[in-house]
Amino acid sequence: MTNARPLDLDALESTAERVLRAATSTAELAEAETAALGKRSELAGAHRTLGALDESERRRVGRELHELRERMESLAAALRLELQAKERSAALEADRLDLSEVVVADLRSPIVRGRTHPVTQSRDALEDVFVAMGFKVAEGPEAETDWYNFEALNMPPSHPARGMYDSFFLELGEPETIVLRTHTSPVQIRLMEAAVAAGTLPIHAVAPGRCFRRDTADASHLPVFHQVEGLVVDRKITFGDLAGTIEAFTTAYFGPEVHSRLRPSYFPFTEPSAEYDITCTICLGAGCRTCSNTGWLELGGCGMVDPAVFMACGIDPAEWSGFAFGFGIDRCAQMRHQIPDMRALVENDLRFLAQF
Ligand code: PHE
Repeated sequence: MTNARPLDLDALESTAERVLRAATSTAELAEAETAALGKRSELAGAHRTLGALDESERRRVGRELHELRERMESLAAALRLELQAKERSAALEADRLDLSEVVVADLRSPIVRGRTHPVTQSRDALEDVFVAMGFKVAEGPEAETDWYNFEALNMPPSHPARGMYDSFFLELGEPETIVLRTHTSPVQIRLMEAAVAAGTLPIHAVAPGRCFRRDTADASHLPVFHQVEGLVVDRKITFGDLAGTIEAFTTAYFGPEVHSRLRPSYFPFTEPSAEYDITCTICLGAGCRTCSNTGWLELGGCGMVDPAVFMACGIDPAEWSGFAFGFGIDRCAQMRHQIPDMRALVENDLRFLAQF
């Protein structure tokens, strides 16, 4: 009845299936669907031949074509799900933070633990010794006014002792001179002013912190260094109290074979004043290159609080007396650990720092 070529439905189906299954991505699958099931596909061509068939034949072949298309569509849907899952996991894989790398590194080398810097360790140990002796720990600002760093410490603008401190000035003159503190002694003034204002005299305090001087770094000097200030203000405080406190601190901190020695000196804010030396920690007093054969190393300064300083803070020197001291924490660390060159403390070479 018809001249149309008989349809080979099996061949039609296997071609469509092969085209769909060849897709390796969702994008390729979309193209394969167009090719296998779209308007220009063999399948669509087969539909168009139906009109030439007689009615019963048209129904039979029509139904078979319809079922074939449905099978191909559900095959495509299943393939799409598979490909989508594959693409999603590939994207996740590419995006993943590979934490296992840290573990791999740790298996090869032991975990390296950080630790506190030797200067921080020294500061903490210093604080512990003074706290055990009944001192409170205080702090003050690193940028100070001329009043706190110099003037209240009995160094008016023209005072020659200002030359002892090569200062970094942040602001000069009006409205105020601001200087990076050259020592921790300004904290003395702040402690006394605060105690007077609050009516909390006496004072037994230490104040550790950073100081700054326009020095060139060498084996025993750093332009940024650390000091600890001590201040005691009470009734009937004597030079003996100062010497005893210094000696007690020295043996507690450096060990029983290290002692202190006070040499007459000058500071504008103490009277009398002294230089504070300790037994050389390298030769224990026998004499060596580090101590220039003296058996002693200089650590800082001290003295009895000058009446002019008391008066600048509103304290009556007839009623109160006191002592103060200030010494280098970096130098304590240097002597405690026998570090030949202080600059090693700020070079941040881990091979050096890891030793402490
Ligand atoms: N501030 C002095 C200095 O840095 C040390 C010192 C402190 C001296 C307290 C006496 C009393 O040189």
